[in-house]
Amino acid sequence: MPETFKPPYPPPLEKRASFLTRFIRSRKCWISTQFEGSYRMKMGHVRLPGMDSYVFNEPEQVKRVLKGEWEKFPKSCLMHRVLEPLLGDSIFTTNGAVWKRQRRLMDIAFGQARLKQVMPLMAQAVSVMLERFDPLAEKSGVLAADVEMTHVTADIIFRTILSRELDGDDALAIFEEFNRYQEASAGMATLVMFHLPVWLSPGLEWFRAKRSAKKIRSFLQEIILQRYTAYQQGEADSSSDILGALMEARDPEDGSAFNFKELVDQIAMLFLAGHETSASALSWALYLIAACPDVQQRMADEVREAVGDGEIEFSDVKSLRYTWNVFRETLRLYPPVGYFSRQAAETHCARDKTIRAGSSILISPWLIQRHRQLWDDPDGFDPDRFEREESKEAIKQAYLPFSGCGAVAVGGRQGDLQHKVKIARRRSRQAAPFQSQLAPGA
Ligand code: HEM
Repeated sequence: MPETFKPPYPPPLEKRASFLTRFIRSRKCWISTQFEGSYRMKMGHVRLPGMDSYVFNEPEQVKRVLKGEWEKFPKSCLMHRVLEPLLGDSIFTTNGAVWKRQRRLMDIAFGQARLKQVMPLMAQAVSVMLERFDPLAEKSGVLAADVEMTHVTADIIFRTILSRELDGDDALAIFEEFNRYQEASAGMATLVMFHLPVWLSPGLEWFRAKRSAKKIRSFLQEIILQRYTAYQQGEADSSSDILGALMEARDPEDGSAFNFKELVDQIAMLFLAGHETSASALSWALYLIAACPDVQQRMADEVREAVGDGEIEFSDVKSLRYTWNVFRETLRLYPPVGYFSRQAAETHCARDKTIRAGSSILISPWLIQRHRQLWDDPDGFDPDRFEREESKEAIKQAYLPFSGCGAVAVGGRQGDLQHKVKIARRRSRQAAPFQSQLAPGA
């Protein structure tokens, strides 16, 4: 097989670094705290002041935490502390019955039909981006791919979620507040991981983050309140965006809908979770295909054959198999969510270790997807691996850029959820528009 392109990443340390070195390095980039053994081990144990943390790299254990026994491994309350000022009690940090209900409603709102409806809104954002590129490219000949990808994905999020354009009004200022919050929360996440109080963050980051969160939430509240009030008063919501779908969704279990506060929480979360992750994936994809012109050519040929000179349609996406493999391989090498955490609700045994209740479990798509024992050529860029028989096991067991549950509409954590969602969709089409009795702010 021809030698594959090995894209760069922070080189692993030869041996495990001290606690202090890890803390200092991880404030900038946690990947640079990893040592060669991190990419080979099945399980790691990190002793932190007041708490034990375990890194699970073994597919069986990961499956147990995310699927088999997921209720015994809830999302960590530490992340909730970092994200709560902006996201409230959104699906990103909730657990148990609250999470289950939110997930049922989100799955309904993000059904395939809705994705089809929002596709033209995505295409509009891409056209605007291409118009922006022409004069820029003439001026300097160089574009900052990550800046452009962040801009276009934020525009897509504004259009698909709220039917707003990023460049249209004060949306741009809010987008900057989101970036500020995100930067500050990345620093705070490191403190939280090391069990230090968030207000220790340098440069009053925590207070700045809270100020940004307040501005973002009041911007969102104003927009959502207008539409929510109209909807509650019986006006049909004619937009094809996600906010409309979230207002319409009804829980198949009890017929309830998201109330106003829940809508603000979920919308804030979708902005945060949706645009930066997609921007990161697209930026790395552009980097990889720029480095591999043959890959770029195959993608271009495939798109030309499937789409011709017309506009891309929802149904075309299915036939872009090679392009899809390039994107999947990008997500393997550069997963936008490098790690996420869970907390052991009770004492467990994993391998030869006793994991005490309250311990943190870290699951890292970054480490697992480059694991030396799980993948052939783990650091090589090879989109065709997704077509090869011998990679099937690794893909099944050790490919988790979206975690076990994935982005909304990819699938639920419970086996019967998809069935319930189908029933709910049917019911929500019949449901009266004012099912929610909760007032704004409730
Ligand atoms: C390439 C892009 C994306 C990647 C790699 C990604 C990755 C992830 C990961 C790893 C999680 C699980 C976190 C955990 O379990 O603690 C997650 C959760 C989630 N993501 Fe994404 N995401 C992406 C794009 C999006 C988009 C575009 C949206 C929506 C606009 C979205 C919405 C969500 C939601 C709602 C959850 C919470 C799901 C739940 O807990 O049930 N994500 N995502």
